[in-house]
Amino acid sequence: MSIIYNSELRVFKLDTPDSTYAIEVSPTGYLLHLYYGASVPDTDLRYLRRMIGVSSTSAQVQDAKENGMSLDTVHLEYPAEGAGDMRISALSIRGENGCNATAIKYKSHKIYNGKPAIKGLPAVYTNTDDEADTLEIVCEDTLTGAEVTLIYTAFTQLDAITRSVRVKNTSDRSFSIERVHSTALDLPDMNFEMMHLQGRWAKERTLVKRHLQYGLQGIHSKRGTSSHHNNPFLALGRDGYTEETGEVYGFSLVYSSNFKVEIEVDFLGTSRVLMGINPDTFGWLLEPGEEFASPEAVMVYSNHGVGGMSRTYHKLYRYNLCRGEWKTKKRPILINNWEATYFDFDDDKLVAIAKDASELGIEMLVMDDGWFGVRNNDKSSLGDWYVNESKLKGGLGKLVERVNALGMKFGIWFEPEMISPDSDLYRAHPDWCIKVEGREMSIGRTQYVLDMSRADVRDNIFDQMYKILSSANIEYVKWDFNRNLTEVGSALLPHERQKEFFHRYILGVYELLERLLAAFPKLLLEGCAGGGGRFDPGMLYYSPQIWTSDDTDAMERLEIQYGTSMVYPLSSMSAHVSACPNHQTKRVTSFKTRGDVAMGGAFGYELDITTLNDDERALVREQVAAYHKYYNVIQNGDYYRLINPTEDKANFTCASAWESVSQDKNEVLLTYVVMRTQPTLQRYIRLAGLDPEKVYTDTATGIKYSGALLMNAGLNISGNYTDGTSLVWHFVADNR
Ligand code: DGJ
Repeated sequence: MSIIYNSELRVFKLDTPDSTYAIEVSPTGYLLHLYYGASVPDTDLRYLRRMIGVSSTSAQVQDAKENGMSLDTVHLEYPAEGAGDMRISALSIRGENGCNATAIKYKSHKIYNGKPAIKGLPAVYTNTDDEADTLEIVCEDTLTGAEVTLIYTAFTQLDAITRSVRVKNTSDRSFSIERVHSTALDLPDMNFEMMHLQGRWAKERTLVKRHLQYGLQGIHSKRGTSSHHNNPFLALGRDGYTEETGEVYGFSLVYSSNFKVEIEVDFLGTSRVLMGINPDTFGWLLEPGEEFASPEAVMVYSNHGVGGMSRTYHKLYRYNLCRGEWKTKKRPILINNWEATYFDFDDDKLVAIAKDASELGIEMLVMDDGWFGVRNNDKSSLGDWYVNESKLKGGLGKLVERVNALGMKFGIWFEPEMISPDSDLYRAHPDWCIKVEGREMSIGRTQYVLDMSRADVRDNIFDQMYKILSSANIEYVKWDFNRNLTEVGSALLPHERQKEFFHRYILGVYELLERLLAAFPKLLLEGCAGGGGRFDPGMLYYSPQIWTSDDTDAMERLEIQYGTSMVYPLSSMSAHVSACPNHQTKRVTSFKTRGDVAMGGAFGYELDITTLNDDERALVREQVAAYHKYYNVIQNGDYYRLINPTEDKANFTCASAWESVSQDKNEVLLTYVVMRTQPTLQRYIRLAGLDPEKVYTDTATGIKYSGALLMNAGLNISGNYTDGTSLVWHFVADNR
């Protein structure tokens, strides 16, 4: 069992292979945080308790019963609002008396094998019970009758601990939850750099860093999605950490709506990290007997730098978060018609693309936006999910048959949560969209947002999608979402529950996704939100791949994919070879480089393949062959970021490099891309993660190197390259 409770010491200890987490129950029942860090064998960690002497003249208040202890100075496991701790709090409950002095104390606990699901919410799961153990600590607030259960799962093979919280109203009066974070962690000092993924449309998830300072810092979303702008992820690297060395703590939230990560460095230099639903746009009324479940936060501890943290997230999210038919199954190489045609296509054009694509080895055609209602631009028809037969003559069934006859699978685009003002659905149900009566509705991409908290709205959309998906052999759906939520209000919620809207909305979306997958269990779902605006672990639970960004420029993608790889496995990052000049940046990059960059994700194409010349067609064939040849090492291997494209300034050049190493360390694929060159480049790339004892052969040249040499001296890649050159090396170990 990786979790123990020592009842004499009143200490809980959670162990993963290389980390330990410890909690103490104080004499009066407060949960004190003792330790989170590298593995330690000891159980009596009580001396780590931070008891700062409180003098009678200091401003610190003391706990009435616990001699000399101030809640304002101890490390608390799950800090509550208003009863002595003045720092940011994880929990705030406003009772019927209107006050929110919240105090939770230990009541009971249980420890068991495996991991529970969270009703209505996506969460990490175990494939077998021996993968993890779970601790549930039940606390109570005797005044409000709130029973607060802190749920921890420690993984036996990965340095990951998941946390979530359940609040139950055991009283006979209602109360309001004002904040309920999924995790809280008090670290004993502030010697950390904070890393997070910031961005905007077509520039998602750029890694940024800053050192912790006294006071408040953090990130959030209030957009109704996890957002292009901030990803629900944050890491703290202890001073001196590097990509492959040192201590890093990762925090990732399995949630697709408004979130907040708050960090406060207090007056004693403690760093408190909170992560969960954004309390600024949240509230929840809990009636007697009702329960509320928070989303799940996933904490990862790494003693092998940022890379170690990422590899843990990659494994956990690939094997214990993604689900279903396509979780680990080899994904078809797809071609999407969006950048090839935008709205201007018909059945013959799609079949022409499918024909050329199939000849070159591409395996699936995805028909993007524009096939339904009277949608010839982005100004109409969202919500009218019936086929536009003037575009698809003979209907959808006929088109799919023609595509299938070419040996290609068929996929389709939907934007299920949206409604165009110019649509039959809006004309019939103007009250179905999100709005505040009396306030003008903001418009985004000429569309409003459907009220997905309503069961009748979800039923309608489900029925329409069901009809389409069961009308033909459709094996893939791209689920898009192209605007933020504003003027938030639901026609069905009473005024005291309107603050629940954002959370109810995403619960509705999750329910619809679940229903769709239950009806079509073999469907491959690809998430999308105007590019990567909802690229989060919550969506990964339903869609094992997500469109990474609307920016398909290979040079831009180097930074976007680099940032995304902090948390998300390569199998989840859809990456396509698109046309040049690139539609977003006008940059011209060679066909080879576009392919090499897209190969670092879920590989596909997005261009008018009928216009390619013979050289380009030959390159498609080569890329398709490379995808099949390197699939295993890329998708199931360990990922190493070797050169950071946002920071690389070596010799005034600028480059990016990454590497995948098979689990048995027998196969290695290394990619290096020159972003900005200089004459007579002098450079060595040092590989990582190899077996120093093994001898590796470069499969292109037959040259042999020891693993030790490749890691310590590196490959000599000095030479003259033009901007945008990509180089790929494949090594296999001798005597495998
Ligand atoms: C935004 C997506 O990111 C694109 O790939 C494309 O599907 C368009 N929407 C279609 O409107």
